[in-house]
Amino acid sequence: MNNGQNDKNERIEQGVNGDSNVNNIETGAQDGRQIDYEKNIIVCENLVKIYKTKETEVVALQGLDLVIERGELMAIIGNSGSGKSTLLNMIGGLDRPSAGKLIVDGQDLLKFNDRQLIKYRKETVGFVWQNNARNLIPYLTAKENVELPLIISNKKKKAAKAMELLEMVGLSHRAKSKLSQLSGGEQQRVAIAIALANNPKILLADEPTGSVDTKTADQILDVFRMMNEKLGVTIIIVTHDRRIAKKVNRVVAIRDGRTSSEMIRKRSYAEELKDIKIGMESLEDETHQEYVVLDRVGRLQIPSEYIEALGLKGKNKVKMFMENGKIILEPPEKQEDKEKEKVAGT
Ligand SMILES: Nc1ncnc2c1ncn2[C@@H]1O[C@H](COP(=O)(O)OP(=O)(O)OP(=O)(O)O)[C@@H](O)[C@H]1O
Ligand SMILES: [Mg+2]
Repeated sequence: MNNGQNDKNERIEQGVNGDSNVNNIETGAQDGRQIDYEKNIIVCENLVKIYKTKETEVVALQGLDLVIERGELMAIIGNSGSGKSTLLNMIGGLDRPSAGKLIVDGQDLLKFNDRQLIKYRKETVGFVWQNNARNLIPYLTAKENVELPLIISNKKKKAAKAMELLEMVGLSHRAKSKLSQLSGGEQQRVAIAIALANNPKILLADEPTGSVDTKTADQILDVFRMMNEKLGVTIIIVTHDRRIAKKVNRVVAIRDGRTSSEMIRKRSYAEELKDIKIGMESLEDETHQEYVVLDRVGRLQIPSEYIEALGLKGKNKVKMFMENGKIILEPPEKQEDKEKEKVAGT
């Protein structure tokens, strides 16, 4: 927590608002597991978000568990409506969770008052959206756009900082171009520079490559990776695109408002680049190990393909047993069939 630029201010703020900060290490209430809030910048536990309208109630997050380490570069994938943007909005302090636990950078977001939430949004997180209109002001130049957040937060040496960021995203030569004169991919790179202007600890990107072609998407993802390596900023990228696995170390899949599986890179990206120079298309399966997420009370989600294949759709029970150190699931019919056989045999 003490490696940010606003160290001093942060400590003063912590003193004033001590009640919304948690101890560095806390013991989980349900299973006694130790949670290290220094190592883990984001901890979601049993996170629930319910959107209520006059007629309906939508449970967008249904008890989601997720831990993200400081300095991670990771992606969240999932079908439309699975709760990806909802989760990002919670982590970004744009909306409040309905229940559960959400600790970001040692701060308990459920305990924040409005003033604390605004301060958190300004200082701790940066956003990149799919829609450029949300990121950028079209009639200003690239440099002016990057300077804007620095002006708002009253930072010194705005011009130099803006140029440094544009240099990092590979656009210093277009600093004086109006946004309307830049391509979609270039505009997204300016958006990344803007999001990083106030040195956030976390960068949240919701479908940042949703409106560009594959080649441009790869370039944008390379910029994210470079920023992660150079600045140590924690980056979360939300996407529909499963190809993202090739560009990040961990991919978490969300299904129906819960984390359902994780793909973790077997070797670090740097290691991989050293000795592999093969086409990106063939990388995915060889480089990642896929896991099903086990929550803290032992529940797991059976992948939908398995449910289909076993004919478990619409059933609410399975038979589970252990054999040779492995857990085996069987459709309930099999058991019923056995019983029928037994009855027939007697
Ligand atoms: N403001 C809101 N009011 C009511 N329901 C909402 C609201 N925002 C999201 N929802 C609902 O919550 C669920 C999760 O939505 P969310 O936007 O998080 O999905 P998503 O995974 O980001 O989908 P997409 O890939 O299409 O962007 C959906 O059923 C959606 O209709
Ligand atoms: Mg979304």
